[in-house]
Amino acid sequence: RKKRTILDLQALKRKKVPITVLTAHDYPSARFIEAAAAPVPGADGAPASLPRGIDICLVGDSLAMVACGYESTNQLSLDEMLYHCRSVARGCTTSLLLADLPFGTYAASVEDGVRAAVRLVQEGRMDAVKIEGGQEVLPLVRHLTSAGIPVMGHVGLTPQRQASLSGYRVQGKTVESATQVYRDALALQDAGAFGVVIEAVPSALAQWITDRLAIPTIGIGAGMHTSGQVLVQLDMLGVDSDLGASGKGPRFLRKFGDVGPHARDAVRAYVDAVRGGEFPVEGQHTYPMSDETFQAFC
Ligand code: KIV
Ligand code: NA
Repeated sequence: RKKRTILDLQALKRKKVPITVLTAHDYPSARFIEAAAAPVPGADGAPASLPRGIDICLVGDSLAMVACGYESTNQLSLDEMLYHCRSVARGCTTSLLLADLPFGTYAASVEDGVRAAVRLVQEGRMDAVKIEGGQEVLPLVRHLTSAGIPVMGHVGLTPQRQASLSGYRVQGKTVESATQVYRDALALQDAGAFGVVIEAVPSALAQWITDRLAIPTIGIGAGMHTSGQVLVQLDMLGVDSDLGASGKGPRFLRKFGDVGPHARDAVRAYVDAVRGGEFPVEGQHTYPMSDETFQAFC
C-alpha cells in the first residue's frame, strides 16, 4: 500500500468513507497497524472498494498513561515522546504518522512550539503534529502550516487541560460551550489545519460541525457522524481488563480484543511450566553438542 497523504484524507471525507485513526506507542503496536493495511488472503471482510487499514497512526500523548504509567499526559516530556515516535516510525510506514505536541512544549511561545514540532518531524520521523486547543494556538498553527508541517487540531475535551476543565468532562453541552467548540474548529481550519479531532462532545454537535467544515473531523466520544474515528490502541485491545467492564473508563470505549487476560494467562502458564520442570524440553528448546566434543570437553 502507498503511504496515506492529506489529499487521500480529503478524498475520504468527500466520499463519506470513514477515516480510520488508531494510536501506536512502540514498534509492535505500530506493526499491528501496518499489518492491517495488508490484504488478508481469502478472508477479507471489507468490500474491495473500501480502503484497507489505518489511515492515520497517532502517537498520542495518551501513551503517557497507557504505556508509561504516568498519572496524566502532562508528565510526558518531549524527549520521551520522541523516543516513542522513533520506535513507531520504524514499524509503520504506510499510514500518515501524526504525533501530539506534549503539554508545555508550546505554551510559552510560538517559537517553542515550532522547535518542538520540528524535532517531532526531524528526529521523531513524524509527518504531522496534533495540537490541543482553540484560539490560543492559532498563531502556532499558522506558523507551522506555512513552514510545511501539517497540523491536526484537537477540540472539545482537551486532556492536557483536564485540571482547568475540572476533570475529563464532556464538552459542548451548553449553547455557550457548543459555540466555543464550533468556533475553535472553524478557526483551526482557517489557520490551515488539515483536520481536527473532536473529543467527548454530544454526537449532534460533532455532526453539525462536520457538516460545516471542509476539513475532516476525527471523533472520539463524538458519535458516528464525524469524518473518522480514533481510539487508543491499548484500550481497544482490552489490555486493561478493568476498563469498560466495571464502568471504569470512558463511555465511548469499545474493546475489540481481550489481550489483557490472554497476556496474564500466558505469564502464569510460563511460571507453572518452569516450576513444574515442563519447560524447556530437551531436544525441542535446546542446542545439541556432539558426544565427541562433550567427551573432549570433560
Ligand atoms: O493522545 C491520544 O491518544 C489522543 C487521541 C485519543 C485523540 O489524543
Ligand atoms: Na492526546
